[in-house]
Amino acid sequence: MDQRLTVVILAAGLGTRMNSRKAKVLHKAGGLTLVEHVVNTAVELTTPERVVVVVGHQAAQVQATLAVSQVRFALQTEQKGTGHALAVCAGAVPDQSGLTIVLYGDGPLMSAATLRDLVDKHQSSGAAATLITTILEDPTGYGRILLDPAGNVDAIVEEKVVTPEQRAMRLINSGIYCFNSELLWKYLPQLKANPVSKEYYLTDFVEILNRAGHKVRPYQHPDPNELMGINTRLELAVVDKIFRERKVRQLMLDGVTIERPETVTIDMQVKIGMDTVVGPFTQILGATVIGEDCVIGAGSIIKNSHVAENVEISPYTMIDDSHLEKKAAAGPFARLRMNAHVEAEAHIGNFVELKKTRLGAGAKAMHLAYLGDSTIGAKTNIGAGTITCNYDGAKKHQTTIGAGAFVGSNSTLVAPVEVGEGSYIAAGSVITSAVPPDALAIGRGRQENKEGWAKRRREKTAAKL
Ligand code: UD1
Ligand code: MG
Repeated sequence: MDQRLTVVILAAGLGTRMNSRKAKVLHKAGGLTLVEHVVNTAVELTTPERVVVVVGHQAAQVQATLAVSQVRFALQTEQKGTGHALAVCAGAVPDQSGLTIVLYGDGPLMSAATLRDLVDKHQSSGAAATLITTILEDPTGYGRILLDPAGNVDAIVEEKVVTPEQRAMRLINSGIYCFNSELLWKYLPQLKANPVSKEYYLTDFVEILNRAGHKVRPYQHPDPNELMGINTRLELAVVDKIFRERKVRQLMLDGVTIERPETVTIDMQVKIGMDTVVGPFTQILGATVIGEDCVIGAGSIIKNSHVAENVEISPYTMIDDSHLEKKAAAGPFARLRMNAHVEAEAHIGNFVELKKTRLGAGAKAMHLAYLGDSTIGAKTNIGAGTITCNYDGAKKHQTTIGAGAFVGSNSTLVAPVEVGEGSYIAAGSVITSAVPPDALAIGRGRQENKEGWAKRRREKTAAKL
């Protein structure tokens, strides 16, 4: 693309109609904030240092959200209109030559392909500005485009000031423009505030360019959906659905089986390998990466996690910030969180929770266990109902279990504690001190049988009746 293409993204508004404490551009669709979508599109067109985001409402949060993208920012302390928002970028743009595209932070569906085409059409027409228009069934709320007999843009009339005749016009202003940068920065200072609203409308700039003898061309887009700007949470849901459909479609085309795709929620950044089967009603979120030939069972929720190849996740398993190595298995109804790590071929079964725990290769914890702040060696077996007591009411403590150990059912391991390699823990034990390697630890009351006791009791009770 043109080395001197600058992209300005207007994102300083609050978005009153969202009825939210959060700035509109920070709401999410498809797992990314609206402004991240727009920035991702912008950096497909030009380098990050040529992308300037105008921030105002919750500027710090917007900047923090975009920090990794390395784009530039311009601060608009008071929201005095779209023209004013662009004007505050004058000092933030790297130079005032080449082309400048203006995008809105609340229009996340705009594609890089359309913008490339906009630039091509703009360059071949020799216009000072080209703006994206479309025809809408219901143009309410949008600026209407007035064309001259030659098909150039004469003016944009805002909804607030349209005449009844203009109100019926369906060719609308999307708010996306491509400008000749030199002319933009030369003439933008001539923009005056609207006498009624005191706002600077970028739309008024068309007439300024025309008066100076420069042409403004319309670029009519056939698909109004791509131009959709979000104003309410209803529109947010519509756009979210579009992103979700795009994502599952792309994954299926790339070789992932998705059962009942309309029920599945997969964030834009997620990666899934070939021949993995994703069950219905799953959610795969954040920066999750899933390898090839996995099964992700129905209703499972996986967030910011890494799942290697040939892993089987059975239904209704929750995995957060965790890692499963190849041929591992988890669930149904398992929970992994806070950097849980299941090594190759290890299994965790139903109602097992792992927190900050590493389960060694081939180890198993198949039923009803809580394993927190622990390291468990390879091929160790954790019996049903095992609990690591990692919290003493004030601090968390570690449990270390060596390789090849056998922890009997319903054992309670009071941390900090170490269980040696190859040792056995008798079922129902409460382990409070270290178990040496290869030892048997029994930590429970010894069983005593009282012969005939039950029979005697029954006879005594019968005699009283
Ligand atoms: C604008 C256009 C209108 C067009 C419509 C398309 C103007 C005057 N009107 O109207 O012709 O049909 O978009 O959606 O340009 N913003 C700032 N700072 C400000 C004001 C706005 O950063 O001071 C940002 C907002 O965060 C938003 C964008 O600019 O992302 C558009 O502002 P908005 O108030 O929604 O303009 P519209 O009234 O929709
Ligand atoms: Mg708007």
